[in-house]
Formats: sequence, structure tokens, C-alpha cells
Amino acid sequence: MAILKIEKYPAVVLKTKTKLISNFKDPSLQKLIQDMEETMYTAPGIGLAANQVGVSLHLAVIDVDYKDGEHNKNLRIFINPKIVEKSDPIVFESEGCLSLPGVSETTKRYNKVTIEYQNLKGEHQTLTAEKLLAIALQHEIDHLNGKLYIDHLSSLKRDLLLKKFKKILSQ
Ligand code: CO
Repeated sequence: MAILKIEKYPAVVLKTKTKLISNFKDPSLQKLIQDMEETMYTAPGIGLAANQVGVSLHLAVIDVDYKDGEHNKNLRIFINPKIVEKSDPIVFESEGCLSLPGVSETTKRYNKVTIEYQNLKGEHQTLTAEKLLAIALQHEIDHLNGKLYIDHLSSLKRDLLLKKFKKILSQ
């Protein structure tokens, strides 16, 4: 396993819609997933999309039960995920991203989502998630579609956040 470099805003790969995965037997896919796990837990973070490590494929890993030092607590792998239903709009207090380290902002999300995705064998799955897992899924699926959480903010809030982020980066 290897720890991969996490792409930071404004990397082009983060703004690019990723490609759907069709070859589930490709051994490099398994290797990529293992490296993404290791990279996410080391960061540490609760979710990571493939384009955050520079690979433009429709794949994300999530572990919302992560606690310091505990790897693989409840790892979930989502291949080709898409949201098919969302309900219960909420204000999420502090959304952040490994590609925008050091900043966070209040976002409007849904507390409940239903997604369709494929597992490692390529089998089609449906999952209804709530709370933090639902937020993480919206965040990671946004990534896969070339979007960041800051794209949901007002231009005023986004400009302020990016100003702060650039300041942090330059320090
Ligand atoms: Co992110």
C-alpha cells in the first residue's frame, strides 16, 4: 500500500467529471482502492474520492466511524455511485475537505439520501443513508462530478473562504 498525494484546490482534476468504471477485474483497481484507504486514514479523513488523488475514475472510499488511530473501522467502497433520492434538507455545521485543508464552512445538505452504486464485484447495490454518512456521500459524489462543497456556497462566502485558504497555503 502507498500513501498518495492529495490534490489541492484549484487542481484541474478536482473540477473534472470522473469516468465510470467498467473493468472490475483490473488488478490496478484493487491497488488504487487500497492506496486510497491508506491515504484517507493517514490524512486523516472520513472520505476520499479518486480524483482527489489524481485518478479521474468514479470511485470513493468513506469511513464515517473513523476515530484516531483506528483504521478500517467501517470502510465502505463506492464504485460508480449516484444519488437517486434525497430528502430532509438540513444545515450542516462544518463541512471541510482534504483538498481544501484548514478551512470549513456551513453548507446546505440533505440528511437522508438513497444512492445506487456498484461493489468490488461490479454488482449493483442500493443504499439509503442518513446523517454523517449521507453528508459524506453527497460530498464525495460531488467530487466525482467535478464539484467541491464550496460550489454550493454564496459567492461572498466562497470568496472569503478561498481568501483564508490562500493565506493558509502561503504560510
Ligand atoms: Co472533499
